[in-house]
Amino acid sequence: MTEFQPLTENIDINSYVKNKLAHNKIWLAPLAGYTDAPFRFIAKKCGADVLVSEMVSADGVKRNFEKMAHYTRFEEFERPFGIQLFGDNPNVMAKASEILSKLKPDFFDINMGCPVKKVVKRYAGSALMLKPDLACEIIKQVSSVLDNLNIPLTVKIRSGWDDDNINAIDFAQMAEQAGAKLLIIHPRTRKQHFSGHSNWDIIKQIKQVLSIPVIGNGDIYTPEDAIQMLNETKCDGIMIGRGALGKPWIFQEIKDYLSNNNNSNCIKHLAPNEKLKYILEHIDRVLHNTQDTKVLIPMRAHFAFYTKGFANGSKAREIIFKSINPDEIKNTLRDLFNGKL
Ligand SMILES: Cc1cc2nc3c(=O)[nH]c(=O)nc-3n(C[C@H](O)[C@H](O)[C@H](O)COP(=O)(O)O)c2cc1C
Repeated sequence: MTEFQPLTENIDINSYVKNKLAHNKIWLAPLAGYTDAPFRFIAKKCGADVLVSEMVSADGVKRNFEKMAHYTRFEEFERPFGIQLFGDNPNVMAKASEILSKLKPDFFDINMGCPVKKVVKRYAGSALMLKPDLACEIIKQVSSVLDNLNIPLTVKIRSGWDDDNINAIDFAQMAEQAGAKLLIIHPRTRKQHFSGHSNWDIIKQIKQVLSIPVIGNGDIYTPEDAIQMLNETKCDGIMIGRGALGKPWIFQEIKDYLSNNNNSNCIKHLAPNEKLKYILEHIDRVLHNTQDTKVLIPMRAHFAFYTKGFANGSKAREIIFKSINPDEIKNTLRDLFNGKL
């Protein structure tokens, strides 16, 4: 992991965003429930360039900042690191970004793509795409706080609410005019949630009309997908979510592909033992700074992905899902990866 220089007052914010966050950069997508600090650590080791927190409620931050600390905490090696906020009230969003700016993240992102009922029922997340005026006010107020601190603001959107309300292109232009310094687009509608396919043509169209950098997101599962998105849409960088679950080494594989003139024969696919090494390190990272092995319970979501695709995967899960003993879990994974289970 290379040392990263955070943004200081005398650096031009637009060239910083272009060079450090956008050009050929590979982002780990925010995935609530998965992209906690230990998983981000592994993703970074595997080559992810830019990391983002899971979405954090602006109301929650304003009410009780300490309670949100678990979601917003990050370490120096994670830079460039962004905190993602969601909410529907411009004043509260601005206040929350001011409070969290004390943590010195490298950027803030506003979630305008979350499809979850609990979030959209109050016009936060993807529901803001139905309320461009409110979204505009949020971006304006948050960027007026952040511009003074020289912290860039990024905005993450979907293609629209449903097939009758596909407004990503106008919405992206609004976001740029209101003060966003970079736009991330996951081109599915809210109605689609995660079904069907993302429409990469929308990424291409947005890239054609914006001056700020564009990060393309949606359905990248292989290095070939990554290059295809970069080539087809001409987006500045890419973001990977589900394709990194159970496979954080995808970042390394994409980088190998990019640095070998997109020659798929040059992708260094990791041997089972190399993958296992990352998984064992992930476990150690979860246990880092604690004696309480119950912290392995939430990690079961990751174990489900790591054990997918093996003939004896279900046998391994049966053992792992009942255990909070690190040695037992590690030995089961060793046996699985070495074909001994
Ligand atoms: C379990 C899960 C949790 C997610 N949490 C967030 C989140 O907190 N913030 C956000 O902007 N997007 C969130 N997303 C959406 C992803 O960041 C990403 O946009 C989406 O999964 C499409 O990218 P992918 O095809 O690479 O997964 C989540 C997606 C999933 C599947």
